[in-house]
Amino acid sequence: MTLSFERLANPWIARLTPYEPGRPIEEVAREFGIEDVASVVKLASNENALGPSPRAVAAMRRSAREMHRYPDGGAFYLRNALAERLNVPPACILPGNGSNELIELLAHVFLGPETAAVMAERAFVVYRLVAEASRARVIAVPMKDYTHDLDAMRAAITPDTRMVFVGNPNNPTGTMVDGPAIDRFMAGLPDNVIVCFDEAYIELVPPEIAPDTLAFVRKNRPVVVLRTFSKTYGLAGLRVGYAVAPEACVALLDRARQPFNVNAMAQAAALAALGDAEHLARTRRLVRGGLAYLEEEFDRMGLPFVPAVANFILVDVGDGRRVFRQLQERGVIVRPMDGYGLPSHVRVTVGTRAENQRFIEDLRKVLA
Ligand SMILES: Cc1ncc(COP(=O)(O)O)c(C=O)c1O
Repeated sequence: MTLSFERLANPWIARLTPYEPGRPIEEVAREFGIEDVASVVKLASNENALGPSPRAVAAMRRSAREMHRYPDGGAFYLRNALAERLNVPPACILPGNGSNELIELLAHVFLGPETAAVMAERAFVVYRLVAEASRARVIAVPMKDYTHDLDAMRAAITPDTRMVFVGNPNNPTGTMVDGPAIDRFMAGLPDNVIVCFDEAYIELVPPEIAPDTLAFVRKNRPVVVLRTFSKTYGLAGLRVGYAVAPEACVALLDRARQPFNVNAMAQAAALAALGDAEHLARTRRLVRGGLAYLEEEFDRMGLPFVPAVANFILVDVGDGRRVFRQLQERGVIVRPMDGYGLPSHVRVTVGTRAENQRFIEDLRKVLA
């Protein structure tokens, strides 16, 4: 008799649709027979085109000699540095193996059968995945102008809802809800839900328009703010993010995590990256300039796009899958969006100046 893994698996797991990540450079080079791997341009995972801070690289090198030791499971130095930076107690911070791990921990702690999670229809897909893996019901709320509709999301909260996820700025739409909208939403919130503001890209948003969600944490409101070193800090490969939440919430998440969830090299690099204000400023300049360039070129080509505030942009190219594939043949990787119900769009990450120009040139050829 042949063993049926499907039959033996938990049915709600067997039914999950796997996450489709941005394709790795080497994989695309192999598939399309591109010999010069270095010529492939990846604009598919909202990474920092400048790479990591040189200070983070130096810290990783130093820490390499200590890799026979287990990490500090409490991430003491990173936690303290973040606490000081964000003006919250260290007990309100929990580092994680990327913010993805923290999204998953939230589901372990707060979701399960007979609960529901509210999210936007075109929000970051991992919210749906973790909710489904926990057997929670997903309440997907349509967006308004590609933006979270917080009034509709509040109206969608049911008595069994435990979590509301708000990607802000949201991936893949690149849009953000502002402080006043968040204040209104929070004012009318029933007391059976926790709101997760996923701020993976918040450091790229001009400070004068970035909402102050940490104020809710300081006031002990039911809010979890997620941030990451993967995007603006250029450390996606290391896997390190963090949650900021009231102490009682962090204590619960802390129980559900692995004892050494953030590796020692990641802790050292994140700490060093936090101290590099210059790299952060360069990154912001690169992203602003790159977005402006891309928007101008899309206008010139008559391609509709969704005005963005993070380091990526959704553009309507007609047939997203075809363009995704033909760009890959030319060594440019973007992200198709049919999985998000946007078959005519692709999402492109802001790269270096040369990478952005290369993308536009190849896009023109593919659309000609
Ligand atoms: C909105 C959002 N949240 C979370 C993540 C996960 O980031 P990481 O696990 O690398 O911190 C991403 C990455 O694509 C994202 O776009």
